Parts: sequence; structure tokens; C-alpha cells
Amino acid sequence: MNSNHVMVTGGCGFIGSNFIRHLLARADFQGRVINVDALTYAGNPENLRDVEEACPGRYLFQRADICDVSLLRKIFDEQEIDTVCHFAAESHVDRSILRPDGFIQTNIIGTFNLLEAARARGKAFHLFHHISTDEVYGSLGPEGSFTEETPYRPNSPYSASKASSDHLVRAYHETYGLPTTISNCSNNYGPYQFPEKLIPLVILNALEGKPLPVYGDGKNVRDWLYVTDHCEAIRLILQRGRRGETYNIGGRAEMENIAIVERVCDLVDELAPSPGGGSRRRLITFVKDRPGHDRRYAIDFTKLQRELGWSPAESFGTGLRKTVRWYLDHPGWSRRIRSGEYQSWIREQYGKGS
Ligand code: NAD
Ligand code: DAU
Repeated sequence: MNSNHVMVTGGCGFIGSNFIRHLLARADFQGRVINVDALTYAGNPENLRDVEEACPGRYLFQRADICDVSLLRKIFDEQEIDTVCHFAAESHVDRSILRPDGFIQTNIIGTFNLLEAARARGKAFHLFHHISTDEVYGSLGPEGSFTEETPYRPNSPYSASKASSDHLVRAYHETYGLPTTISNCSNNYGPYQFPEKLIPLVILNALEGKPLPVYGDGKNVRDWLYVTDHCEAIRLILQRGRRGETYNIGGRAEMENIAIVERVCDLVDELAPSPGGGSRRRLITFVKDRPGHDRRYAIDFTKLQRELGWSPAESFGTGLRKTVRWYLDHPGWSRRIRSGEYQSWIREQYGKGS
């Protein structure tokens, strides 16, 4: 890989932290990672404690908001950034419905700031990789799947803000010749996912005997991608992706939400039987639907497979088992998040932030 000084934005979040661990573990990557993260509610430096200890000198954390233009420029110059791998975003659809403003700031304006800072590096700049979502394509009927040619039809403030940032990235390539790539991927799951998203929420609620909320009729379909498969796809794009191109990334694991929740219940029952006996399925509770809830997503990742030889290594069965196991093995991580203790710790270590 030609990247020596890689800025990873949002590296204290779920996918970003998995990606940094994945990249630094590769013998063929000898560069440095500069993790730029504002530490919002979703950012937790504890996710990278092992990396900080294992890679001194090759891993640097910089607390910064991507909306802070002057701080960004300073980091780009001081750290001689030649590559950006852009994960930082407000990522939760339900939050975007309640309060869209932060999504517009971070996802659109923040991406614009990064593109400008990258452009200012001139010939020293090697690649801007933008991580996006399948939600930009809108909702599918019972048949078919999203390809890179599918027109954008975002339905939530979250997906509209991501679509907007995708367009900016594309425009910077076309207009200024900035070397860019974009990937649009399906629902990730795995270690360190913030327990507001379906799978970790259901695992932790099931363990605590709390209701398992299923929106609407539970028949909405998502495609599920184990997070390290996503990380490997991104690494390959950084290494060999064609500039100006978009790559779809999927897990080949389409499922109705209700089926996911039932499978999680069964796995939790198997790995951590409830003290009183009885299946966790009894906790499933149908609740009011999400407004504008997309019915179905499915991804065609033929292009990535053909050009870069990628396909997912995990099946949904193996990935889900690893995920449930991880949450069982890390009760302290979940407890600190659910109690809010992690935020007091961040304030002590890093101050209140901007
Ligand atoms: P996450 O919410 O777990 O993490 C987001 C990270 O970004 C956090 O560490 C947060 O502190 C940081 N951040 C937020 N606003 C910031 C700002 N203004 N400046 C600097 N840092 C900021 O998100 P995730 O699930 O890891 O998603 C990462 C990326 O992948 C996002 O761009 C998301 O749109 C995309 N994506 C996620 C999924 C998924 O299933 N989770 C699927 C497809 C695409
Ligand atoms: O498709 C990629 C997207 O996947 C990413 O771009 C987003 O960042 C990520 O958050 C995720 O979005 P979803 O809205 O699909 O994920 P979430 O885990 O919130 O919900 C998954 C499905 O489960 C969705 O159909 C809504 C439903 N759901 C969710 C929650 C939190 C429930 O039924 N109950 C719940 O409590």
C-alpha cells in the first residue's frame, strides 16, 4: 500500500475501531494511523486500548471535530496526511429522525471540510476513501438488489445526509481530480457496536431480561455484514481500488428483522441460559414502526468480487456466534456504556471537547 500517513476519521466508533485494528495487524502495512475523532456519544477510546498499547509510534489519537476547519488543516499539515479513510458520521437512523441537525453538520459539512483539506495537500495526497451506506439507494421491493448504478433515493435524514456526502466526494473527483473512492455497504455487526443498533441492543436486553423491541411487523429485510469482512474490503479498496469508482459491499445474508431477533434469542439461550429457564423469545415485543422505514435492502457486490477478489469470509451463523460470544466476554464494556460511565471517563481523560 502506498499510504504512509493514513487519517482514519471516526476511529473510536464501531467500524472505525475495528478497521484500525485490522489495518495495523497487517504485515504489509508499515505506515501510521492518525485517528481523528470528536468523541461524540458513539466514540469510545476504550475500543482501541489494545492498539494504543501494541503500536506506539504507529498509532496517534487526535481528538478533533471534522467541522473544525482550522484544526483539521493543522492536523493534515503536521501529520503529512496522504490518505483519508472517512468513517466519522452520525450513524443512527432513529436519532436522525428525532434530531437531524447534527447529521447535516457532521455528515455533509464535515465531509466537505475533509475534502477541502485533502485538496489543499496537492500532489502529496494519495487517496480519499469515503465510507457510505446502501441506504442511499432507498428501499427495494421483494426482488432485486442494489448495484453501483442504482439511482439514489434516500428516505431518512441520515441516508439523505450520506447521499449528499457521496455526491460531494464524486464531485471532487470529477472537478478537481482528487483521487477518491466510495464504498456503500450493508448493515454491519460484530464487536464494539454501540448498543443502540438492533443486534447489540437485542443481545444485551436479552441478557438483562428486558423487552426486545421489534418495529412494525418485523418483516423489514436487511443484509448483514460481519465487521471484519467490511474492514478487509476497505483495505483492498485502499490498496487497489480504481480512482473515481464506487464499490458496493454486502454480506450475502438477507434476513427479516424478526428472524434476526429470534436467532439472537436462541444463541443467547444456548451460550448463557436464563437462570429461570425458558426462551428469551418471550421478551420479543412489537412496537410502533419507524417513520419512513425502508422495507428491504439487498446488495450486489459482483464488482468488488470481480475487480478485487473480495467476498465475505463469515456466514451469518459464524459471525453472529462470534458477536454474541464477544458481548458475553466483555460485560464491563457494555456496562460502562449502558450506565454512561464511559462518558465520565472520557471527560476526565480528554476534557469536555468542543
Ligand atoms: P459509529 O456511530 O459507531 O461511530 C461514529 C464515530 O464517528 C464515533 O467515534 C464518533 O465519535 C465519530 N464522530 C461523529 N461525529 C464526528 C465529528 N463531527 N467529528 C469527528 N468524529 C465524529 O458509526 P459506525 O457504525 O462505526 O459507522 C461508521 C461509518 O460507516 C459511518 O460513516 C456510517 O455511515 C457508515 N456505515 C455504517 C454501517 C453500519 O451498519 N454501522 C453500515 C454502512 C455504512
Ligand atoms: O444499511 C446500512 C445502515 O445500517 C447504516 O448505514 C447505518 O449507519 C446503520 O445504523 C444501519 O441502519 P439500520 O437502520 O438498518 O440499523 P438498525 O440497527 O437501527 O436497525 C436494523 C433494523 O432493525 C431496521 O429495520 C430497524 C429495526 N429495528 C431497529 C432497532 C434499533 C427494530 O426493529 N428494533 C430496534 O430496536
